[in-house]
Amino acid sequence: MDVLHIINIKMSIENKIDKGKIPKHVAIIMDGNGRWAKSRGKMRLAGHQEGAKSVKKALEVCGELGIKYLTVYAFSTENWNRPQAEVSGLMSLLVSSIDKEFDEMNKLGIKIHVIGELDKLPENAKKKLLLAIEKTKNNDKLTFIVALSYSGRWDILNAVKSVVKDVENNKIDAKDIDYNYFEAHLATVGIPDPELLIRTSGEERISNFLLYQLAYSELFFTDVLWPDFSKEVFYQAIIDYQNRERRFGKTSEQITN
Ligand code: IPE
Ligand code: IPE
Ligand code: MG
Repeated sequence: MDVLHIINIKMSIENKIDKGKIPKHVAIIMDGNGRWAKSRGKMRLAGHQEGAKSVKKALEVCGELGIKYLTVYAFSTENWNRPQAEVSGLMSLLVSSIDKEFDEMNKLGIKIHVIGELDKLPENAKKKLLLAIEKTKNNDKLTFIVALSYSGRWDILNAVKSVVKDVENNKIDAKDIDYNYFEAHLATVGIPDPELLIRTSGEERISNFLLYQLAYSELFFTDVLWPDFSKEVFYQAIIDYQNRERRFGKTSEQITN
């Protein structure tokens, strides 16, 4: 395919996007790094390294379309059970990625945020992340949320414990706890629920990601492995999302009238 042909395809995809119907928040389960590496006879870590490049592409699309929040599932609570060498490789990759990408992300106005059990991370990774969060706290172009040592069940349980403490300390009466109050105790406080969830690699499951927050998200699954993720795949997911009818329990007639 010549360059002109590729540009034409790209433009025709972009033209299909309704700029008035851009989701505020997209969440991604970045899956398939290991299979990508295996199919090339490489170590799993090589897949993770290549996958880090795809994160940049996703951030670029958010910038282009004006998506305000991007959450990526980078490491789950369950991922601690992987072989020690892979876990430490992933932690080192996290540190080196911040070192490499921080200045550019900051320049682009990206606010870095982390959800998950930060205390479980190695000290140097935790320090780097906290510094990155502090330095970017006033940026407002796009909030980039990294789910690290995160799981949906952890998030919900943590919120329950925190709400119970408030009841014990007489901050609130149990009968007054409503959704708003509960949500303010989740790791995602202040962040709107994702309208769209993308998962790569052909797996069609949630894997303990944002269990509470995904209640009404549109789900988009693609066979593309995360290291092969491209802007076109992201655009395709947005087009697919824009063609869904989001009914929130109502009838189609109620939505269209
Ligand atoms: C996703 O890719 C990255 C993490 C879970 C950290 P995987 O490492 O799960 O890749 P597969 O599923 O084995 O191909
Ligand atoms: C989910 O991927 C977690 C991340 C992408 C960080 P996994 O590859 O760990 O999920 P399962 O185990 O196949 O469900
Ligand atoms: Mg996987």
